[in-house]
Amino acid sequence: MLKGNRISFPAALAATLAMALSTPAFARGPMPDPAVKDFQRVVDAAYAKYKDLKEGKNADYIPILTETPSDLFGVVIVAKDGKVYSAGDVDYVFSIQSVSKPFTAALVMSEQGPEVLKEKIGVEPTGMAFNSKLALAVYEDSVNPLVNAGAIAAVSLVQATSEQERWNKVQQNLSDFAGRPLTVLEKVYESEYTTAFGNRGIANLLYNWGRLYSEPEEALRVYTRECSVGVSAKDLGMMGATLANGGVNPLTRKQVMPAGHVPELLAIMATAGFYDESGVWMFKAGLPAKTGVGGGIVAVVPGRFAIAAFSPRLNEAGNSVRSMKAIQDIAAELGVGVFGPNPN
Ligand code: DON
Repeated sequence: MLKGNRISFPAALAATLAMALSTPAFARGPMPDPAVKDFQRVVDAAYAKYKDLKEGKNADYIPILTETPSDLFGVVIVAKDGKVYSAGDVDYVFSIQSVSKPFTAALVMSEQGPEVLKEKIGVEPTGMAFNSKLALAVYEDSVNPLVNAGAIAAVSLVQATSEQERWNKVQQNLSDFAGRPLTVLEKVYESEYTTAFGNRGIANLLYNWGRLYSEPEEALRVYTRECSVGVSAKDLGMMGATLANGGVNPLTRKQVMPAGHVPELLAIMATAGFYDESGVWMFKAGLPAKTGVGGGIVAVVPGRFAIAAFSPRLNEAGNSVRSMKAIQDIAAELGVGVFGPNPN
C-alpha cells in the first residue's frame, strides 16, 4: 500500500514485524528492564545520601561482629540478566546471617514441596523478635522459616544421612544462588557457636515438641555455619536476582529452585523478612526482602531485579539502618513496590 513515497501504517507495521521475526529470539535476547537507564543513577544517589549517616550500632551479641568497620557501606542493583550497578563497598565480605534463611527454605521446597514447609515449619509471621522464645511458647512450633526457630528447623529438614552431607547441601545451595562458591568465615562461626545458648534452647524446645527433624546439636551447628557464610553485597544482589529470574542464576544459568515455588518464597519474605518490623518495611518499601545482623539486606522486585545493600550499624529490631533507607529510596525512586509505586 504505497502512497507516493510514504509507506502507509499497515505496510510500516508489516515491515517492522517482518524484521523482528527474521531475527531469531535468542539473538534478540530478553527485553531490557524499562528502569535500567535509571539503575546507576538511583544507586549512586542512595549511596551519596546515606554515606555519612551514623545511626544504629553493630550487632554485639555475636562478639566478633563488633569488629566489622562500622562505616562500610555498599549499595547494588543486580538486573535479572546479571548486570551489576553498584556504589561503595560492594565487594567487602561479611557474614550472611539471616539472609541465608530464605535460600535454605527454598532448598526444602525444592526437595519436598511447599506443603512440607507449611506443615512442618509454618509460614505465619510472628510479630515478635527473630530470637523470640515467647513466640515459640505461644505457637508451640517454629512459626516460619525466616525466624531462628524455623530456620533451625529448615536445616534439619534438608534431606541428608549425615551432618557433613546436610552442610554440603546447604552450602552448595547458597553458592548456587550466588553463582560462585561461598565459604564459611570460621572466626564468625566460632564466635557465634560458642555463645549460641539462646539458639541451643530453641533447638531443644523444638526437638521436645517434635518440630525438629534431626538431632538438635547437629541442626544448631549447620544453622550457625549457614549464618557464618561470607558474602558481599554483590553476592546478595546476585542471590536476589536469581529469585527475580524465576530461580535461574543469571551468571551460571542453573535452575537453582523450581520457578513455581519462587512466589511462595517471596510471600514468606514479604510477611516475615523483617521479623517484627515486617509491616513497617512492606508499608514503606513494598518489596519482599530479607535482612541479617551482619548488615546485609536483599530485596526482590519480582520478575525484574534485586536491590541489595550492606552497612553494619543496626536498629533495635536488628535491621541495618542505612541498607533499609537506601533500598527504600531506590524502590520509591523507581516506583517498583509490588502494591504499586510507593512514596518515599
Ligand atoms: O541466629 C542468630 O541470631 C544469627 N545467626 C542470625 C540473626 C539475624 O541475622 C537476624 N537478622 N536480622
